[in-house]
Amino acid sequence: MKTTLAACFIFLVVCGLVDCNTNERPHILFILADDLGWNDIGYNNPYVFTPTLDALARDGVIFNQSYAQPACTPSRACLMSGYFAYHNGFQTEVMNKWTPNGLSLDFTILPQELKDLGYSTYMVGKWDLGYCKNEYTPNGRGFDHFYGFYTAGEDYYSHKNGKFLDLREDFTPDFDQDGVYSAELFAEKAANYVANHDKNEPMFMYLSLQSVHGPLQVPDKYLDRFNFVSNIGRRMKLGMTTAMDDTVAVVVEAFKEHGLWNNTLLIFLSDNGGPTNEGKDGNNWPLRGSKKTLWEGGTRVVNFVYGTMLEKTGYVNDGMIHIVDWFPTLVHVAGGESDDQDMDGLNVWDTVSKGDPSPRTEFVYNIDVEEDPPYQAIRVGDYKLIHGKAGNPSDWVPPPEDDSLGGIENGRIYKAFTRLFNIIDDPTERNDLSEAMPDKLAEMLARLEELKETTYPVEFVPRTKEEASPKNFGGAYSPGWC
Ligand SMILES: *[C@@H]1O[C@H](CO)[C@@H](O)[C@H](O)[C@H]1NC(C)=O
Ligand SMILES: *[C@@H]1O[C@H](CO)[C@@H](O)[C@H](O)[C@H]1NC(C)=O
Repeated sequence: MKTTLAACFIFLVVCGLVDCNTNERPHILFILADDLGWNDIGYNNPYVFTPTLDALARDGVIFNQSYAQPACTPSRACLMSGYFAYHNGFQTEVMNKWTPNGLSLDFTILPQELKDLGYSTYMVGKWDLGYCKNEYTPNGRGFDHFYGFYTAGEDYYSHKNGKFLDLREDFTPDFDQDGVYSAELFAEKAANYVANHDKNEPMFMYLSLQSVHGPLQVPDKYLDRFNFVSNIGRRMKLGMTTAMDDTVAVVVEAFKEHGLWNNTLLIFLSDNGGPTNEGKDGNNWPLRGSKKTLWEGGTRVVNFVYGTMLEKTGYVNDGMIHIVDWFPTLVHVAGGESDDQDMDGLNVWDTVSKGDPSPRTEFVYNIDVEEDPPYQAIRVGDYKLIHGKAGNPSDWVPPPEDDSLGGIENGRIYKAFTRLFNIIDDPTERNDLSEAMPDKLAEMLARLEELKETTYPVEFVPRTKEEASPKNFGGAYSPGWC
């Protein structure tokens, strides 16, 4: 399960021989957006205003078949471990603020690996992988510097989750930012890290934005542009998306100002699809379903890369990639090689940088057999099997800002079911093939059974609200209770 760092020595030896200097290894800026829907980016929806992101995507590579998990914690666990959720223990639960565990310490995670390869490692924003003891926190797991919050969500201005503060620099709570909107706060903190970074060292910056997760909050100045949208929740969501675009603009500007940008690899990715329910108002049109579902709308995510080191740019890449693939890919970019044969992630660097065919031909959306019916789906080649349940809502929800698209088409399914789709021919999951293609169905069911055998056990741990309470820690969510 653990990767070793033999490759690091190989890198040093090779570099010693050919006199390559460490500066040639790119800086890595990994931006994870929170709950950004498929249709919540300018290049997929002309009503969304994200000029910075659109320009970067246009000059880089847009990945149009990039997948993540349907919810925040599982996607982060996949990114950090390189293992599918059903192999890292997060196939069932999203971390709760009282959950006394975290991403298993059996995993050597991405920042640890990059740090061992000589990178300076920075994280700004949302963690969501456990904090009940120091070892689970970003500082305990390979980040040299951390500014952000531990839990899944909070107020954008007070930085409180419920009654208590969740904001800190390394281990020190920061009580002084009341009223500062997080999209601006995180931009400033990330820019400061860039300004103070030793330019001789390669940098890994994980910018894990709060934007555009609920609650719907945004400075007024972002709303005017969207006055034509009568749905107020959706207007707020569009404003938040533009605020996020400004965050990225500020951070990119800092990379430029400090001479890092021309050797920086940027990856922009959403952690899951948009939540389409009222009060959240994300949008995944024309894809089916929402965050927290195994439909494409929950799992097929906005993703592009940018960087001068990319050999082929300015096009849309249809190769299949999954969030677990970034681990071995970035370790490779950093000059190492993961020699973990069990890891689910695949090195997709030749696909990313040159447009070669993706080595990925299948993936697991999820396998969770603790749920009844099981919450499970897989993709093999062009086909997707859902066997059990996919979660609701399962509707096709057009964006409220575009009157021409009509109303919601209801697709709710509450009972256990089996569905087979050809995702290439039918990306919006309208045409069930399970009866028309019995042989393909049997083949997919057999593959699901095979994959299931390696499930990593889910650890159900009781809540320990009393011990965990921030009251015991000066009013801020803090480690020290497990
Ligand atoms: C991305 O894929 C979707 C679904 O298959 C397709 O409708 C869309 O045209 C593709 N986008 C681009 C830019 O190729
Ligand atoms: C990147 O920018 C720096 C500072 O402006 C410059 O010294 C360096 O030569 C540039 N590198 C490349 C690969 O263009």
